[in-house]
Amino acid sequence: MPDIESLRLAFAQHGQSHVFAFWDQLDEQGRAALAGQLSKIDFDDLALLRRTLDGALAGASGSAAGTAAPMAPAPVAVLEGKALADATARGEAELRAGRVAALVVAGGQGSRLGFDGPKGCFPVGPVTDAPLFFFHARKLLALETRFGRPVPFYIMTSETNDAATRACFRENGFFGLDEKNVFFFVQGMWPALSPEGRIILDGRDHVFFGPDGHGGTLSALRRSGALADMEARGISSVFYFQVDNPMVEVADPAFVGYHVATGSDYSVKVCAKRDPNEGLGVVVERGGRTEIVEYTEFTDEQKNERGADGELRYKYGSVAIHVFSVPFLAREAAAGLPLHVAHKKVPHVDASGRVVKPSSPNAYKFEKFIFDALRDAKKSVCVAFDREAEFSPVKNAEGSDSPATCRADLSRKWARWLAAAGVALETDAKGYPARRIEIDPAFAADPETLKAKLAGVALPAAGDILLKA
Ligand code: UTP
Repeated sequence: MPDIESLRLAFAQHGQSHVFAFWDQLDEQGRAALAGQLSKIDFDDLALLRRTLDGALAGASGSAAGTAAPMAPAPVAVLEGKALADATARGEAELRAGRVAALVVAGGQGSRLGFDGPKGCFPVGPVTDAPLFFFHARKLLALETRFGRPVPFYIMTSETNDAATRACFRENGFFGLDEKNVFFFVQGMWPALSPEGRIILDGRDHVFFGPDGHGGTLSALRRSGALADMEARGISSVFYFQVDNPMVEVADPAFVGYHVATGSDYSVKVCAKRDPNEGLGVVVERGGRTEIVEYTEFTDEQKNERGADGELRYKYGSVAIHVFSVPFLAREAAAGLPLHVAHKKVPHVDASGRVVKPSSPNAYKFEKFIFDALRDAKKSVCVAFDREAEFSPVKNAEGSDSPATCRADLSRKWARWLAAAGVALETDAKGYPARRIEIDPAFAADPETLKAKLAGVALPAAGDILLKA
């Protein structure tokens, strides 16, 4: 156990002696647990959290955005014809040379979904209930088969879900991937603070810690050795995505190729917003830099502004599908990102040591956002994508962006692929098939492969359609 008297002194000097309030009531195990947590708290980090909180409470912006400067939408490339063919060929060459990796951020708490386990293990396959991780991993397997080189898979977890995430991969035989090409790394955690800047105990022997946000990816990549691993493998482009969208075209050659051909540090896939109020961040140019502005920063007037063509001026939103160049990731990991403060409900103990679950926000949590790095990119590009083909996340337990909408969207996507392969299925007016469909990406990861695989094959005339490798 660390030296308790030094710990006590250090916490007292930093105005945090309350963390020892229940020390005398704890048994050996409880004392060891608390002391272990306390000894990991870095007082420089704590001072930064307190300064950030003071600034936020005094009314300063939680982000470093130069909000006063006028802004304009960043240009968006719509890849078609020769431009698409060129970008695709370039991306395929990168994949063939083994210079592309994939990175999924899977450290979130998934509180809206309310699933007991890592979100990546959530069953989403319309027919088999295969987990989200299955679809991501099998796409990488398909790329490896097609291009003859593995696409190393970096998976960011949190302390809360790391063990369960690793177990999910082990139990599923790494979904067919070679274990040595899968790299788990754990994101950082920060304490939450009371309005007075005090660390919060959520048990007599336990400090509340929350994940440091998807922006924690950068420092975690560096700390864990994942970045060094990428460099050692000769990776130059990293395809970044979120765990909750099984429709994502992982390491899509055209996007990767366009990123490389334009010499971009940070590339962003964007799609047309569903409506002016959809809560997606927008890529803008402001004060001489490109940045992603959260929808909360837009006025109603800006959200609804239209150009001469009748289209929304800020038509496109980001759904956190990016490609980063590895030297840029290394620079950003060393530089660090700004902190954002959020007022949240954080469980805590009362004076008697009883755990209280507050019904309204009582504390401040701190997070970093990956897209803050965009401001530092010397070169960045935006590429448009079709959301019906590539985006349907599992965010909520019910309603929009839920398991039900995601499964239906997956079936619809595959119904389109089947139609292109000559298998016409009955669909409703919006293209949703009456039958459930599931295609293992390792069987076919694109419509052309599916067509080739189905030549001369008769599918069952009724019931579910399941195509497995
Ligand atoms: P969300 O913002 O949707 O959060 O994360 P979430 O944790 O999945 O769900 P809610 O908001 O609690 O309901 C978007 C992506 O960023 C990852 C998530 O795992 C998801 O892939 N993420 C988020 C992290 O990896 N770490 C974090 O600290 C936050």
